[in-house]
Amino acid sequence: MLSWKTDRRILLGVSGGISAYKVTDLVRHWRHAGCDVEILFTEAAERFVSPLVLSTFTGRRVWREEDYLDPEKGFSIPHISLADWAEAMVVAPCTAHVLGLAARGDSGTLLGAALLATRVPVTLFPAMNVHMWEHPATQEAGEACRRWGYGVVDPEEGDLACGYEGKGRLPRTEVLAEWTWRSLSPKRDLQGKRVLVTAGPTREYLDPVRFLSNPSTGRMGVEIARTAWYRGAEVTVVCGPGVDRSLPGVTWVPVESAQDMHAACMDLADRDVIVKAAAVGDYRAETPNPQKVKRRGRTGWTLELVANRDIAADLGARKRPGQMLVGFAAETQDLAAHAREKLAAKGLDLIAANDVSAPGVGFGSEENEVRLFAPEGELGVLAGSKEEVADRLWDHIALRVDR
Ligand SMILES: Cc1cc2nc3c(=O)[nH]c(=O)nc-3n(C[C@H](O)[C@H](O)[C@H](O)COP(=O)(O)O)c2cc1C
Repeated sequence: MLSWKTDRRILLGVSGGISAYKVTDLVRHWRHAGCDVEILFTEAAERFVSPLVLSTFTGRRVWREEDYLDPEKGFSIPHISLADWAEAMVVAPCTAHVLGLAARGDSGTLLGAALLATRVPVTLFPAMNVHMWEHPATQEAGEACRRWGYGVVDPEEGDLACGYEGKGRLPRTEVLAEWTWRSLSPKRDLQGKRVLVTAGPTREYLDPVRFLSNPSTGRMGVEIARTAWYRGAEVTVVCGPGVDRSLPGVTWVPVESAQDMHAACMDLADRDVIVKAAAVGDYRAETPNPQKVKRRGRTGWTLELVANRDIAADLGARKRPGQMLVGFAAETQDLAAHAREKLAAKGLDLIAANDVSAPGVGFGSEENEVRLFAPEGELGVLAGSKEEVADRLWDHIALRVDR
């Protein structure tokens, strides 16, 4: 986890929707990450979840509507002091009612007033019945909030508590947390940049039930996508099978074979920065057997393989001025020499090389250690969790991308 995620101050507004019970989990998630959380309830929220439960997890009182204009509490002006204290403000769930009052700048309630008083990033998570969500009044309220800079995260599709099926569900805790981290990110240096990341393994089928692949989980690529998104980039991830696609806010393009990945990357070849972190199969069976190859009567199986097209080299060949191309090299020997050779041969601007034979780093592990090379020489070693390594990689890319 990146160090800036700890010790942050988050103000959570809870309004009276059926999914209010789910925010207990969100508060625990933030508390586990070391954040301080203040909570503001609307009057209706208390009908759906108990302030006692939430104050137990935050270790603080929950601010209630009755505190807003109360002579006993009013001297601390709760909506101003909370708005000033916070580093990020989140409303989850955000009812149609609160979305409407946020769009109007209505300070008639404690939550409405805090939304007006705060200068920190605000993220709203609307959740409601699908017809309420689709109503033009709700859609326009969401658009108005977006126009003045609030994050308004669409609800998810699925079964709704009201018995309907459709868009309206409050997203999972991890999704709510990811949007909050993004709003708290100290770096915004990729704002407006369009980024393509490739991640994970490819599968080269030999017959309908067997394939050639590798142990890549796509974790490094996902962390590269996550940290770029935190820093404001518009991110597309072309990913192989088995890659965890739970990161919100990015566009996922799932593919299977190296040829599929090649086609998807060529379609997206105009992106400002392309980071190729996928472990692409170099070879495939020229004609995969259409039926399962039987063991019966065979003593062996000699495979005839052909080379796949080199995605990095093809992207390098069509690179436009100002575009950045970053590669990864997984090596088991002569790391620096192979990395330098690959950098030059494929027209890359940077290459991150890791020794996948070293224990505890590389394929499938939590940590990574890469040596970073540019055409002018080695830039240093990036080591730590894959998220930290990804963030440091973006530090280098961000410095170069507008040169
Ligand atoms: C059982 C029940 C569930 C409700 N769930 C939602 C909901 O998920 N989203 C929503 O926008 N309104 C929902 N409402 C309506 C709100 O509770 C109602 O509009 C209330 O005035 C909202 O107040 P608040 O926005 O100040 O918290 C629900 C009402 C009931 C009776």
